[in-house]
Amino acid sequence: MILTLIGCQNNDDDGYTNVLVELEVPAHFPEVTYNLTNNPLTKNGIELGRKLFYEGAVSSTGTVSCGTCHEQKYAFTHHGHTFSHGVNDLEGTRNTPPVQNMAFLENFAWDGATGHLDLFPIIPITTEVEMNETLESVIEKLKNKAGYKALFADAFDDGEVNSENFLLALSQFMVTMVSADAKYDKYIRNEEQLTEDEQQGLAIFEQKCASCHATALFSDGSFRNNGLQPNPKLNDLGRSKVTGFEADNYKFKVPSLRNIAVTAPYMHDGRFGSLEAVLAFYNSGVVDSNTLDPLLHNNGSLGIPTTEQERTVLIAFLNTLTDNTFLEDDRFSEK
Ligand code: HEC
Ligand code: HEC
Repeated sequence: MILTLIGCQNNDDDGYTNVLVELEVPAHFPEVTYNLTNNPLTKNGIELGRKLFYEGAVSSTGTVSCGTCHEQKYAFTHHGHTFSHGVNDLEGTRNTPPVQNMAFLENFAWDGATGHLDLFPIIPITTEVEMNETLESVIEKLKNKAGYKALFADAFDDGEVNSENFLLALSQFMVTMVSADAKYDKYIRNEEQLTEDEQQGLAIFEQKCASCHATALFSDGSFRNNGLQPNPKLNDLGRSKVTGFEADNYKFKVPSLRNIAVTAPYMHDGRFGSLEAVLAFYNSGVVDSNTLDPLLHNNGSLGIPTTEQERTVLIAFLNTLTDNTFLEDDRFSEK
C-alpha cells in the first residue's frame, strides 16, 4: 500500500467532504519534488484524475486519452510504437516515456520542456499530432458530459469544472503512480535474494551505468548526450530546444530504467528494439561529438565496453527492475 487515508479533510456547510491521502515515500527513494502542500492528495481528487487520464474527450476526436499512449501493462508507454501515435493516427517525433514516479522528477519530457507536472498535460493536449485540442474546449466538453460536475464537486472545495482543477486532479493521480516493488526493491528491503547473474549484473551496473542512471529512480535527472548518431530526418536537438544553448545540443533527460524490460523500443526516438541492441550500442556504437558526455569518452576510447558475459548479466539485472505490482495495480487501471 502506497496510500494511507488520514481522515476527513473538510466537511463544510455546502456538504463538501473529502479524505486526505498521504503519499508513502519508499525509504530508498530520493525526496519528493512535487509540491504536495499546493495540491494535497485526496481520495476524490485522485479518482477524478484517474478518470481524466482515461478520458477520450480530452482529445479533439474524442478517441485519444492519455491512457492511449500511456498503457499500464507497459509501464505507461505506447507499446509497439517507435513514435507516439495521436489523433487521426498522426505520428509524433519522440518515443513515449513511462509515467511512473513522477512525484520525484524535476523535469518532464525528454528535453525537460516543463519543470512542472501540473503544466505538462497542456503539451499533449495542444500538440497537433497528439490530442490536437485546447484546454478551454476540453473543459467545455467535460461540463457537458454526464458525471463530471459531481466528480469535480466531490474532489475540490470550490467544486468548479475548470482547467486548474482539471490539471490538479491529473497531477494527483500521476503523483500516486509510484513503482517501488520490483525484485530489485525487494532485494534492497532484504525481502528477496538476487541470483548470481543478477548480483553480478548489479555490480557491473554500479560500475558502468549508475553515474547517470543513478539513485533508486535509475536517473540522476540530468540532460546528457549518450552518443546516439542523430537521426538525420528529425535532427532532434533535445535539451537545446528548451535552453537555446548549443552546448545542450543532442542532450536528453537520462531516463529511468525502472520497468525497462517492458518499455521497448528504447531511446528518445525509439531506435532500439531490445536491451541487447542498447548494450551493443554502448559497447561499440557511441558517436563522438562536441556535446558527448565526458563519461563516454575515456582515454581516447568511446562508449562503455562490455564483454558478452557482462551484457548477459547486465540484462539479468535490468530484468529485476520489472515491477508487476505496479503494472497490475488496479488503482491505476481504466477499470
Ligand atoms: C499521442 C501520444 C500521447 C498522448 C495522447 C499523451 N502522451 Fe504523455 N507523452 C507522450 C510522449 C511522446 C512524451 C514525451 C514527450 C517529449 O519528450 O517531447 C510524453 C511524456 C509524458 C510525460 C513526461 C514523462 C517524463 O518522464 O518526463 C508525462 C507526465 C505525460 N506524458 C503525461 C501525459 C498525460 C497526463 C496525458 C493526457 C493529458 C498524456 N501524457 C497524453 C505521448 C503521449
Ligand atoms: C553518460 C551517462 C550515461 C551512462 C554512463 C549510461 N547511460 Fe543509459 N542513457 C543515458 C541517456 C542520456 C539516455 C537517453 C538518450 C536518448 O534517448 O537520447 C540513456 C538511455 C538508456 C536506455 C534507454 C531507456 C529508455 O527508456 O528508452 C537504456 C536501456 C540505458 N540507457 C541503459 C544503460 C546501461 C545498461 C548503461 C551502462 C552499460 C548506461 N545506460 C549508461 C545516459 C547514460
